[in-house]
Amino acid sequence: MSTTDWPALRDAARAMLERAYAPYSGVHVGAAALVDDGRIVTGCNVENASYGLSLCAECGVAQQLAATGGGRLVALSVVGTDGAYLAPCGRCRQILFEFGGPGLEVDTGDGIVTLDALLPGAFGPADLPDDARREP
Ligand code: THU
Repeated sequence: MSTTDWPALRDAARAMLERAYAPYSGVHVGAAALVDDGRIVTGCNVENASYGLSLCAECGVAQQLAATGGGRLVALSVVGTDGAYLAPCGRCRQILFEFGGPGLEVDTGDGIVTLDALLPGAFGPADLPDDARREP
């Protein structure tokens, strides 16, 4: 288990709730993740009048991770409007897998689980042919 400051990570996720743009569902979502270099990256959901184009809070985490220098996600907290754990959707589990892998720790509010429990048998970078990967 990591030495994550889970209360601080939860607070960072909750702080994002007021930034959420969710005029259609009214469901505010905040996410915060610890990166392997110690920084915390955050995100909130951003909805769209074309509902299906809405962005989940975890997409914001992936975006901020890349935009602030990359790295690996170590631990994650996602909360809904009430500040309690909100289960990452299937698409976001896959997005998180890319940057945290099976060992990414997720706070369920009822204990810490690793991403492989939320996305068993995941398809990931290792399933692509070796020559499919281009270094930036
Ligand atoms: N939502 C997230 O931000 N993350 C998830 O993992 C599940 C759903 C958002 C999308 C939409 O803005 C709202 O929650 C209701 O579905």
